[in-house]
Amino acid sequence: MKKLSARRRHPLAAVVVLLLALAATGGLYAAFAPASKAQADETSQSLAIDEGKKLYAVGCASCHGTGGQGTSDGPSLVGVGAAAVDFQVGTGRMPAQQPGAQIPSKKVIYSQAEIDQLAAYISSLGAGPAVPGKAQYGPEGADIAKGGELFRTNCAQCHNFTGKGGALTHGKFAPSLEGVSPKHIYEAMQTGPQNMPSFNDTTLTEQNKKDIIAYLNAVNGEETESPGGLELGGLGPVSEGLFAWIFGLGALIAVAVWVAARTAKAKKS
Ligand code: HEC
Ligand code: HEC
Repeated sequence: MKKLSARRRHPLAAVVVLLLALAATGGLYAAFAPASKAQADETSQSLAIDEGKKLYAVGCASCHGTGGQGTSDGPSLVGVGAAAVDFQVGTGRMPAQQPGAQIPSKKVIYSQAEIDQLAAYISSLGAGPAVPGKAQYGPEGADIAKGGELFRTNCAQCHNFTGKGGALTHGKFAPSLEGVSPKHIYEAMQTGPQNMPSFNDTTLTEQNKKDIIAYLNAVNGEETESPGGLELGGLGPVSEGLFAWIFGLGALIAVAVWVAARTAKAKKS
């Protein structure tokens, strides 16, 4: 018993245990994160709607009403479509917190799978614009120069010439478009959040939207294209998250344990 506790106190034992725990968490994370995504893809639409309905009841119904019909604290969501939900929740605007001139974007609290479920539920209440696909917002076949022209005529009066954003009246503001993902830019144009007008496909065709997104990426850089540092094989957030977990946290903890061990030694001698 004494021997065991003596061994337990060995500083290296703590490191080993922590590293094992980290590897286990990282491994579990890697094993389950893609699985839940694949699951969501396979899950029948009705199951996604059911899940979305549950999430909605907890996080959204207090303001938007139990059936999405709206209350004095939030507008009706019938017919706003999956694109509006994906934008509002995916940029952290929803769920709203404080009332104010304009609901700001915040840390996103739902996973993309949960956002998809919320979107499925809300689109089941009434048809609206669907979430755009990569073919619509991707860079293939986009004309950056044309996009710049379109941006200057349609968007610059609020967002400034290169999308740096600017103040509007009554405490409202057009945010900077730097680092906003192409999908969210597309959805913003589609759905016109808060004081932004919406640009339907007659005002700005799909091609026009694609050109504008390509222009913004050219002037501001694209969030999803790893603006600096290693690409980590471009394997996506799972591998990058795992990397951060194991190496980042592991290194921090190892340093902490090392410092503690040294202080203990220094005290002894
Ligand atoms: C504290 C109250 C509150 C909560 C909670 C809340 N919302 Fe909202 N929501 C609002 C308000 C207010 C607006 C209108 C903002 C505006 O346009 O000025 C809004 C707008 C929206 C819109 C845009 C509607 C449109 O016409 O394009 C969507 C979509 C939305 N909310 C979804 C959600 C979802 C999904 C949740 C739960 C995850 C949620 N909201 C939680 C208050 C709330
Ligand atoms: C009348 C002013 C106005 C015009 C014109 C306008 N916007 Fe906006 N835009 C806004 C406001 C205000 C917001 C903030 C809305 C919110 O927070 O819900 C916004 C938000 C956005 C966002 C979300 C940014 C983020 O941080 O998530 C994008 C993307 C965007 N606009 C793109 C565009 C594009 C592209 C155009 C031109 C096709 C355009 N806007 C035209 C006022 C405008």
